[in-house]
Amino acid sequence: MASQFSKDFFSATIFWKTLLALGLFLYLILVPFLNTQNPSLSLIKWASPSSQPSIISPQTPNQSQPHILRANGLRKNMATQERIPGIMTDETQVRAYAPDGPRDPGTFPGGTRGHEMDRDGRRRLDFFVDNIVDVLAEYDHTKYYYLGWHSESVISNYWFSFNQAFGGGGIVLSYPLAKALVRDMDGCLIRYAQSSSADLITMTCIADIGVNLTPHKGIHQVDLHGDFSGYLSAHPKVPLMTFHHFDAMDPIFPNMDRFESTRHLMKAADADQSRLLQQTICYHRQTNWSFSVAWGYSAQIYENIYPRSYLQMPIETFGPWAKGPKPPFYMFNTRPRSDNPCEAPHFFFLESVYKSVKGDEIITSYIRARPRGLPPCASSGNHSADSISRIRFFSPAKKRLQIDRCECCDILRVDNVKAEVKFRECKIDEIIA
Ligand SMILES: *[C@@H]1O[C@H](CO)[C@@H](O)[C@H](O)[C@H]1NC(C)=O
Ligand SMILES: *[C@@H]1O[C@H](CO)[C@@H](O)[C@H](O)[C@H]1NC(C)=O
Ligand SMILES: *[C@@H]1O[C@H](CO)[C@@H](O)[C@H](O)[C@H]1NC(C)=O
Repeated sequence: MASQFSKDFFSATIFWKTLLALGLFLYLILVPFLNTQNPSLSLIKWASPSSQPSIISPQTPNQSQPHILRANGLRKNMATQERIPGIMTDETQVRAYAPDGPRDPGTFPGGTRGHEMDRDGRRRLDFFVDNIVDVLAEYDHTKYYYLGWHSESVISNYWFSFNQAFGGGGIVLSYPLAKALVRDMDGCLIRYAQSSSADLITMTCIADIGVNLTPHKGIHQVDLHGDFSGYLSAHPKVPLMTFHHFDAMDPIFPNMDRFESTRHLMKAADADQSRLLQQTICYHRQTNWSFSVAWGYSAQIYENIYPRSYLQMPIETFGPWAKGPKPPFYMFNTRPRSDNPCEAPHFFFLESVYKSVKGDEIITSYIRARPRGLPPCASSGNHSADSISRIRFFSPAKKRLQIDRCECCDILRVDNVKAEVKFRECKIDEIIA
């Protein structure tokens, strides 16, 4: 065990130094090796145990390069994870942390987002480093913090715990907490030797230290199936930090495979991570249309005026990962899909992202996914949006850090085929309805 610890510790230390040099907080290792002089918050990912420890693994498949940490710190008695049908458990033993960006096999490139691959080269986790750094900067690193988020499926939280962070999306521990957890690791594993889940035992050990979960809705386990567009188009108003299981879902863009879809979204992430998926809503009163955009991903036109309180509920285009006998299935409210012309939106998806000539604005353009195939909404004046094929949104080319309130927008123009919308801060008394 001792040599395994020191090997992993060694690899972790190299990794950490590289990251520190780049000013990143992101650190993906296992708790037991966290006794470094690390002053910051750490993103901890648990992995299933495996018999063979390894450091930098050369046997990764043909994927471009790699920081591979085999994280196998959990003890043997965790090896017998019982599987509950329908629940994703961590099975991957080799993880490659493959940042996007320039390909330099020796360093963690200065990219602002990355992804984690499994042994077969499938992406398991996408993370948004700029946003993670900004979110973590809000917390005092000398205090005890356990950050994470639930499963989106109610029943999974019931089966495991409503108090736990789900490890797929990532668990963040502050240094003092990680240190305390390491100190009590043996004792805790003995106290809860019967525990069947790594995420659950993490929570129980942390609870015994006196700390509880600080939920953060930007960390996504993504325990959902099918078409994720409804959820992504009404993302909670917090910076996006991680996505897990992204590739268990349908591709998020029409006419693209999963890989292309992820790359397409990442173009927007590279342009402005702070606004990525943030929902902004405004109205074209002349036609009684509501515009909603999930920045960098999709836009909708409703042929009716709907308040933000309604539009922020995702349309249920997806299904739960694990389904209980009856609703509620999700940890959030949803709207059903509808064929009512007043309720069903026209759907547009990201086409391109570019900077204005002056460089002060970012323009995201969204094109119609498909004809809506419904008559116009009669009760709001019969103004059909069928002819609109493209919407362009202009947003400031600077990061937005305010998290107390969403942005607002104005419709600049609407003609027969396109609409243009400009972002701005909401006015003091502005009501989005
Ligand atoms: C990786 O290698 C495997 C087998 O060698 C092959 O089937 C697969 O297509 C390769 N993947 C990529 C992305 O090149
Ligand atoms: C907007 O809808 C309301 C009913 O909701 C209707 O009274 C009004 O005339 C409509 N306005 C236009 C410009 O169609
Ligand atoms: C609404 O528009 C449709 C054609 O799109 C038309 O057939 C219908 O009569 C219109 N209804 C009203 C109330 O104007």
